[in-house]
Amino acid sequence: MRKRILTGDRPTGRLHLGHYVGSLKNRVKLQDEYETFIMLADVQALTDNFEHPEKLSENIREVVLDYLSVGIDPAKSTIFIQSKIPEIAELTVFYMNLVTLARLQRNPTVKDEMKQKGFGANVPVGFLAYPISQAADITFIKADLVPVGVDQLPMIEQTREIVRKFNDLYGKVLVEPEALVGEVERLPGTDGRAKMSKSLSNAINLSDSPEEVKKKVMGMYTDPARVHGDEPGKVENNPVFVYLKAFAQEGQRDRVTEYESRYRKGTIKDTEVKELLIAVLEEFLGPIRKKRAEFEKQPELVDKILKEGTERVRLEARQTLDEVRRAMKIDYFG
Ligand code: TRP
Repeated sequence: MRKRILTGDRPTGRLHLGHYVGSLKNRVKLQDEYETFIMLADVQALTDNFEHPEKLSENIREVVLDYLSVGIDPAKSTIFIQSKIPEIAELTVFYMNLVTLARLQRNPTVKDEMKQKGFGANVPVGFLAYPISQAADITFIKADLVPVGVDQLPMIEQTREIVRKFNDLYGKVLVEPEALVGEVERLPGTDGRAKMSKSLSNAINLSDSPEEVKKKVMGMYTDPARVHGDEPGKVENNPVFVYLKAFAQEGQRDRVTEYESRYRKGTIKDTEVKELLIAVLEEFLGPIRKKRAEFEKQPELVDKILKEGTERVRLEARQTLDEVRRAMKIDYFG
């Protein structure tokens, strides 16, 4: 049997360059080798958007278009919707017995998000517990590998703990997954903050128009200590150079190296470097935009991909849950 990949995204907005380097790139690369499952995590998205559920229906097809546009091939990768697989919710309830409140409160990503949202003691249970539900997402399909951004590593660690505990208690049913992070681990925001994120409005989307890309790049943060173009500047952690490194194609690499050394010496202006970045991003995004436009014209095809993917996954989910209930000795009628 081929090894399996499961990963997914919250359908709360269009995907951006950070999603690409963190996870999408690996998914596209590995879909030939692994049996790949990609989930639209609408239930998880509700944990911090339950007051605006319309956000999900507005974005779910946009995210599918993002997948298809970067080269995720529905003939190789199965795309499905989390809320349509009730077995995931059932598994989540079983896993809740295997995780303590203290353990959830120690999850570094959840901790950061709680701080960011100012939840304190009034954190909704659904939000605090989403790592448990994510463990169910990963394990119901018995995934071996989970391509994700670095911020998701604590979720995979928690999943592994749950799997070990379940298998120890009830017998070896579940597969312990491993995480796979992108070569470029984290893409900074256009504002120089550590992470590109739709909620921080510092992202360049895969579907941005050439005009939007240009505007965002021209407004990008560079080396804050450098005031004039004739002063030596820093290339490390300078978002413009980080993006150049991440997206320059073969034929553009020499230019990037040249600009780096000129930047260090102070013989090139920020705007010139940004112009190179615009060209590099256009080369990368052009074909993606084109592919997206093709699929945008076929909304029935997009729905068909989603429906068929979800049906296929549902069968798998039923099977795993049968095994889980049997192992837990709650399969009362055989
Ligand atoms: N937590 C992920 C994110 O915010 C989305 C997600 C939900 C996911 N379930 C998953 C990722 C399972 C990998 C595996 O991006």
